[in-house]
This record gives sequence, C-alpha cells and structure tokens, in this order.
Amino acid sequence: MDENKIKVGIIGVGNCFAGLIQGIEYYKQNRDKEPIGLMHKTVGSYKFDDIEFTSAFDVGENKIGKSLDQAVCSTPNLVKWVDLPKSEVMVKEAPVLDGIGIYVENKIKPLPNPTNSDILKNQIEEEIKSTGTEILVNYLPVGSQKATLFWAAMALKTKCAFINCIPEFIASEEKLAELFKKQGVPIIGDDIKGQVGATIVHRVLARLCNDRGATIDKTYQLNVGGNTDFLNMKEQERLKSKKISKTESVTSQVEKEISAENVYIGPSDFIPFLGNTKLAFIRIEGKMFADIPYSMELRLDVDDKANSGGIVVDAIRCAKLALDRGIGGYLDVSSYFMKHPLVQKTDSEAKQIVEEFIE
Ligand SMILES: NC(=O)c1ccc[n+]([C@@H]2O[C@H](COP(=O)([O-])OP(=O)(O)OC[C@H]3O[C@@H](n4cnc5c(N)ncnc54)[C@H](O)[C@@H]3O)[C@@H](O)[C@H]2O)c1
Repeated sequence: MDENKIKVGIIGVGNCFAGLIQGIEYYKQNRDKEPIGLMHKTVGSYKFDDIEFTSAFDVGENKIGKSLDQAVCSTPNLVKWVDLPKSEVMVKEAPVLDGIGIYVENKIKPLPNPTNSDILKNQIEEEIKSTGTEILVNYLPVGSQKATLFWAAMALKTKCAFINCIPEFIASEEKLAELFKKQGVPIIGDDIKGQVGATIVHRVLARLCNDRGATIDKTYQLNVGGNTDFLNMKEQERLKSKKISKTESVTSQVEKEISAENVYIGPSDFIPFLGNTKLAFIRIEGKMFADIPYSMELRLDVDDKANSGGIVVDAIRCAKLALDRGIGGYLDVSSYFMKHPLVQKTDSEAKQIVEEFIE
C-alpha cells in the first residue's frame, strides 16, 4: 500500500461527490496554475491528489455496477466541470433503509431485487477491507437516519475514520462520539459547512453584530436550489435535524438569545432550473447605539457543490492525519468544517484549531 495515499470510500455517489472528485481532477489537470479555492495546498504531508477513491456505495440502479467515473455523470447528478479518467472502482450496492424520500422517488430508482441485508452487510465489509479503504465519507440524502447509523456502525467495525457530511447527529451526539473514541476511530461531523455558504456568511455577520454591541432581534435565511438535495428537502419530515443544524450554527454566534419565533433558517424551496446553484437570502434586524434600529439584507449566489468539495478535501486529509497519529473519537476540527459539531466555536477560533491540529 502506498503510504502517502489516502484511501477513501464514498457513501452516496451524488452531486456532492461529483463535485469533490471533479474538483480534485480539475486541480490535477491544472497543476501549472495557482490552485485557486483550495484552503490548504498541503495538510501535513498530504496534497489534494493524495486522495484516492477506493470504494463507493449507492442505491441507484443506474449507478450500481458502473465504474466511478461513469456513475458520477449518471442522472440525476448535474456536476459537469471536467472529464474524469477511467476508474477501476465499481459502485457497489448499499442498503436503501430510509435513503430515498418521496419527492426524489422518480429520480432515484433502487434495484428491483435488492440483496438480502445480512449478505449485503458482509459484502460491504469485504469491499471496504479488500480495497484498503480507511476513511468513509457519508453523502446520504437528508433524513437518512437509519442508513447513517448503519454506515457509522460499519465504520466502527472496519476501523475506518468517518466523515459525516449530513445533518444526522453522530459526531455531535456525545454517546456515539464516545463509541468512536473507545474503538480508536476518528470521526468528523456533522453536516458540512460550505466554503462560502449561507451558514458561514450568516454566522460571521451575526458574530459581527454581536461583537459590535448591536442586538439581533430577528433574522432569517431562505435557501433555494434545483438539485435532488433541495428536492428531497421539500419533505418536511426529513428536515428536522437540518433545521436544527442550520439554526444552531447561526444562533450559537450570538450571546443574547433570539427567541425561536424570531429566527427562521432553513431550506425553503426547489426551483428546478437552478440546478446546483444555490441562492440564499439573509436578513438581520436589530438595534444599535441609542436603541436605534438597523437592518441588512444579503443575497448569496453560489455553486453548492464547489461549496462542499472545498471543505471535504481538507476534512479527509485531517481524518488521515488522525489515523496516522492514532487519534480516535471526535475531532475538534469539526468546529471549522461542520455546521453541527459537538462544540460550537467562533470561526476564527475554529480555524486556529485546524491550523494547530495540522501542525
Ligand atoms: N453544500 C452542500 O452541498 C451540502 C452542505 C451540507 C450538507 N450537504 C448534504 O450532503 C448530502 C449529499 O448531498 P448531494 O447533493 O450529493 O445529494 P444527492 O441527492 O445528489 O446524492 C445523494 C446520493 O445518495 C444516494 N443514496 C440515496 N439513498 C442511499 C442509500 N440508502 N445508500 C447509499 N446511497 C444512497 C443517491 O442515489 C444519490 O446518488 C445531503 O444530505 C446534503 O444535504 C450538502
């Protein structure tokens, strides 16, 4: 095994993964240029191209059995930044459990005759072990609580570091984080905080108002997009933890509590023609010197998948450093990479933690 390679397994070969793998390929194809948008050229000794995707799991019948480069370009994925070289990795079947929501049913079709769950579990374990996969990245749809627990247990069993990019609370749930610590398995989570996404922008603005002595009396953040993630999030039942994750991420930055009826933060609608473009509308209103009111409005227009890839490319390399150093359990770097870490920090404190961890 090449010591300097990072062997990563993917759970959910959707748009986020398509952005991550095509982003890495973009930098490979443009080595002579400054790597714009990469937060760290190296993390420890690891460069972006030390990341190798060694296994991948999905439920879509049009993705299972395809090579990774083909699966990434299969519907309903939308990312088309660069052509990928042929991959030897074949996408393998995953258990559906609660993975597919009602709104995406006609876009993601599982196998008509899925493999028996015990057999599947053994096959997955075998695939992880035989490919030398050492880190699992969870990109399941919002609302996949059972499926996420399945994969967290699989990470523990196979001693793979677990990066939980979705708003199911694993790393931020003390008892579960404790399990990872006991087994010496690193975990980073939960719910990726985009590189320049609505959450980080809203957090930083909220912190700014707080630090300058102004109150925040009311605030909202409306988000719309046109990919399967947004379509799936039309299902309110699947959204509970997403709303908690997004709301706590912002309100944690303000000392004076904002009453629940005065905060609205969440995915708001699906607009098909937006594709992977995500629009966020943020409003903050409050009082400043002499009780004088102020307000601000911001519109963010950003590619949702560049947003997640820019973070996960560093989270993977930090997870690998933890494996190299024999560190298990919850990793503090989660405060920088994730919306719902075990402990919320300000983003400048969290950045410091990442830099110190890397050193
Ligand atoms: N900026 C961001 O894009 C961002 C930020 C935070 C969190 N997230 C979260 O990351 C996750 C992935 O987002 P995405 O845009 O790639 O979604 P997506 O809908 O494009 O991809 C999900 C993939 O998972 C597969 N899948 C469904 N059920 C499965 C199961 N049981 N087992 C294995 N695979 C299954 C689908 O077939 C699909 O390929 C979502 O939960 C999203 O909310 C994304």
